[in-house]
Amino acid sequence: MSDVKSPLFECQIVPVITIDALEQAEPLALALQSASFTALEVTFRTAHAAEAIKLMKQACPTIHIGAGTITGAAQFDAACDAGSDFLVSPGTSSALFELFETVNVPVFPGVASASEAIAAFERGYSAQKFFPAGAIGGSAALKALVAPLAQISFMPTGGISDKNMQEYLDLPNVVAVGGSWMIDKFALAQGDWDALTAYAEQKMWPQQK
Ligand code: 3PG
Repeated sequence: MSDVKSPLFECQIVPVITIDALEQAEPLALALQSASFTALEVTFRTAHAAEAIKLMKQACPTIHIGAGTITGAAQFDAACDAGSDFLVSPGTSSALFELFETVNVPVFPGVASASEAIAAFERGYSAQKFFPAGAIGGSAALKALVAPLAQISFMPTGGISDKNMQEYLDLPNVVAVGGSWMIDKFALAQGDWDALTAYAEQKMWPQQK
């Protein structure tokens, strides 16, 4: 299922989080909630992802906690069992599409070209992750897709920062941007949650300020 008007995009900036230590999950979600983010994507790049999603959902029940880096059945099953509010994949395959068709939460399949975007659209996904955005042409590439693929919306991630996010958000086919630029790695390692919130707020500018 794909839902472009999802309340997921209230904030339009989606932190992409990789949890290295499970004890970071809850305070990190609370700190990002304090910075006004309304959706967080937890990547399945560490063994803590599923448990982190559960903890974050308990700590922050009013924001959307999704699962990213869904590349196969193992991550898919774990993400669904954890109660993920949405799913994101870096790319697609027939097997992944078959799995995605079995869930009722928004899914953002990853695409990197017009052909992949059309294939995902044919499967019913009108909102897609555009990845890795910076490396595949950035906002210029997405701008070039507006006219031929007017019916498809994108959430670009990969190489986005506070310096270039507005270029993406100004495009009519971009519903949100995602990435890790707003997460202060030092504050995260130190467990300095107030500093993490302050940094994230600063890195949302000028969109949210
Ligand atoms: C993703 O999976 O979306 C990216 O790894 C996030 O990209 P970034 O770390 O370059 O922001």
